[in-house]
Amino acid sequence: MGPTGQAHAWTTVLTGGTTRDMHQPAMRAPFRPGTGARPPYLAGRGDKQALLREFLTNLGAGLAPGTFVVLYGPRGNGKTALLGWLEREAGRSFGVATTAALPTEIPDGASLVARIEPTRWYHWFTSETIASIGRSWRTKEPMAAVAGRVLAARARKTPLLLLLDEAHRLRPEAGEALLTAAQRVAADLPFLLVLAGTPDVRPHLDTLGASFWNRAEKIRLGRLDPSGAADGFREPFRNAEIRVEAEALDRMVRESECYPYFIQLLGRAVWRRALASAAEPRVTPEVVEAAIPEFRAQKDDYYLDRFEEFERFGLLPVATGVAKAFASRNVLSAAGLDEAIQTGLGERADRDSLGRARSALRNLGFVWRVRGRPDWEPGIPSLMDFMREHAGSS
Ligand SMILES: Nc1ncnc2c1ncn2[C@@H]1O[C@H](COP(=O)(O)OP(=O)(O)OP(=O)(O)O)[C@@H](O)[C@H]1O
Ligand SMILES: [Mg+2]
Repeated sequence: MGPTGQAHAWTTVLTGGTTRDMHQPAMRAPFRPGTGARPPYLAGRGDKQALLREFLTNLGAGLAPGTFVVLYGPRGNGKTALLGWLEREAGRSFGVATTAALPTEIPDGASLVARIEPTRWYHWFTSETIASIGRSWRTKEPMAAVAGRVLAARARKTPLLLLLDEAHRLRPEAGEALLTAAQRVAADLPFLLVLAGTPDVRPHLDTLGASFWNRAEKIRLGRLDPSGAADGFREPFRNAEIRVEAEALDRMVRESECYPYFIQLLGRAVWRRALASAAEPRVTPEVVEAAIPEFRAQKDDYYLDRFEEFERFGLLPVATGVAKAFASRNVLSAAGLDEAIQTGLGERADRDSLGRARSALRNLGFVWRVRGRPDWEPGIPSLMDFMREHAGSS
C-alpha cells in the first residue's frame, strides 16, 4: 500500500469509517491505562489463556473440573483484564454461562446465594429481607450447603463460570460458604470458580479454611516477558496501520519495564505524539523520546500514591531500606530481604514486626517472589529508584 493509501486506512480505522482530519481530538487512543481498563490487546498471556481455555473446553463438554482457580499477582499486572477476557471467551465459544461478582456485592452468605441465582424469588426482596432469610436458613442449614445447592442447580442446567475479582477482600461470612460449596460442586458438575487477587489472597484464603490455597490451581501474574510487552505495544499500532520501528519498540519495552499498566500509559503518550508528528504517523525512536517526559511525569504521580501509602502504613523506612538493598542487584535472597527490612525497622526489629513488614511489602506488590525460588525481586524496578531518590523526604 502506498503512503496515501496507508494514511487513508489508518484514518478510517481511527474514526470508525468516516474520514476526518487526522489531528482531530476525536481519535481516541486505543491504549487505556487504568485499573480494570480493558487493554486494546491482551499481550503476553498466551500460556495462561491456553490453560484457561482448557478449563472452558472441559466445562463446555460437561466435565467437572474438580478444582478452582486463583489468579494472583501485584497490582496493575492484569488480573482484571484476564478475567474480562475469560468472561468474553466463555460466552463466545464455549457455551458456558458466567456470573461475576465483587466482594462488596456479596458481604454475607445470603447475598452470595442471591447472586448465584438472581432470578429466584428472593431477588424481589430487599437486602434486609434477604439478610433475615439468610439468618433463618443458617439456623436450619449451613450457608455452604445452601450455596452448594443453588450452584449445583445452575451447573446442572448450563456449565457455569463464577468470577470473583478482588478476592483478597472476600468477607469471611461469604467466603467460607463460597469456597466450601465451590469445592463440593466442582467435584461432580461443570462448575468453575475463578478468584483473582493481590498476593495477600493466599493468607486471606488460609484464614477462610486451611486447605483452600493448596487445592486451587494457581495462576501467577507478574510482569510480562519482553516479547509479550513488545506485542502489547506493537499490536494496537498495527491494527491502526501505524508502523513501529524496531528501535522504537525496543525503547518502549525497556521504558515500560514490561509492567502492563505502564504499557498502556506509555503507549497512550506515544500514540498522541505519533499522530501529532507527521502526515503519515509512524513510531520512530524520536517520537518515543518525545513522549517519555509525559509518561515519566504520570509514572511519578503513580509512584507518589505508592509513597503515600507507605507513609500511611508507617512503612517508609522499611520500603526505603529495601530499595537501597536493590540498588546494586536485581534479586535479593530471603535472608537479604530480611536484613534490609531489619535495617529499615531499626530498634523496633523483633521477629513479629519483621514478619509483618515483609507481608505488608509483599501484599502491596513492592516485592514479589522470583518464580519457583525463595528469592525476591522488585514489583516494579523503577519504584525502587523513586523510593531511593526521595529517601530523605520521610
Ligand atoms: N496482558 C496485557 N497486555 C497489555 N496491557 C495489559 C495487560 N494486562 C493488563 N493490561 C493493562 O494494565 C492495566 C492494569 O490492568 P488490570 O487493572 O487488569 O490489573 P490488576 O492486576 O487487576 O490490578 P489491580 O490489582 O490494581 O486490580 C490496565 O490499563 C490494563 O489495560
Ligand atoms: Mg484488578
